[in-house]
Amino acid sequence: MVKIYVLLEDYSGYESPFYAQHGISFLIEHGGKSILFDVGQEAKPILHNMRRLGLEPNNIDYIFLSHCHYDHTGGLLEMLKAIGKRIPIIAHPMIFRKHFVIKPCLMDVGVPFEREEIEQYAELFLTNEPIQILEGVYSTGEVREREDFEKTNLEVYTLKDGKLIRDELLDDMSLVIRTSEGLVIISGCSHAGIVSIVKHAIKITGEKRIRSVIGGFHLIDASDERIIKTVEKLKKLDVEEVYTGHCTGLKAEAEFLTDYGEKFHKIHSGMIIEF
Ligand SMILES: [Fe+2]
Ligand SMILES: [Fe+2]
Repeated sequence: MVKIYVLLEDYSGYESPFYAQHGISFLIEHGGKSILFDVGQEAKPILHNMRRLGLEPNNIDYIFLSHCHYDHTGGLLEMLKAIGKRIPIIAHPMIFRKHFVIKPCLMDVGVPFEREEIEQYAELFLTNEPIQILEGVYSTGEVREREDFEKTNLEVYTLKDGKLIRDELLDDMSLVIRTSEGLVIISGCSHAGIVSIVKHAIKITGEKRIRSVIGGFHLIDASDERIIKTVEKLKKLDVEEVYTGHCTGLKAEAEFLTDYGEKFHKIHSGMIIEF
């Protein structure tokens, strides 16, 4: 059985005792182990929500970071202190690079820590290759083949030898869980494109059945054309069920609701998903 807790999301749900904050954090329980997927921008609301859910930070065995953005990595140091033991962190080798926007002003939006600070508390396991973390649970590694229509339109930059270059967010990675009903794919913001991610997951696992896609799809500023194409292509790939929120945006969520009906779920802090 796989149990996924939404520890933090932009929306708390109606009449909810849980805290919401812009960002993502999931806890995945599988085979007696726990993986913390992303750590929001702060640990405080995550720890509050964990207490409400009866979850102990000390039981976390691994951390997986989907990409560098502050709303997925900002809570890292405080979460590591709360976990209180040295555990592996799986992420892309480029995750600690400079990553910033210049509009409306110069602002760092990457990991708000130096690599050395984190290494005092955890074992960094940085790889861009697909890798098994637990039996049947994999990191996708880097998604190199991206659909043309999903090329990132985020205006973000990095530095290379002192030169300003566009950052393609190659560090975007997702988790794939093999279940008896097909794959469950968990993404942070899907900067590699959710259709490209699903295709990549099929390629690395050889499994064509997709039980669920969970996470942010970063369609908040996408054109109508891209939104429609995304939903159409996921349907064509036989993605059975969609759990989304965060950076997916109201327009895309409405499109998913129209096409998926009861198989569309808006995620929120405190939500528990089981397979
Ligand atoms: Fe995000
Ligand atoms: Fe992001």
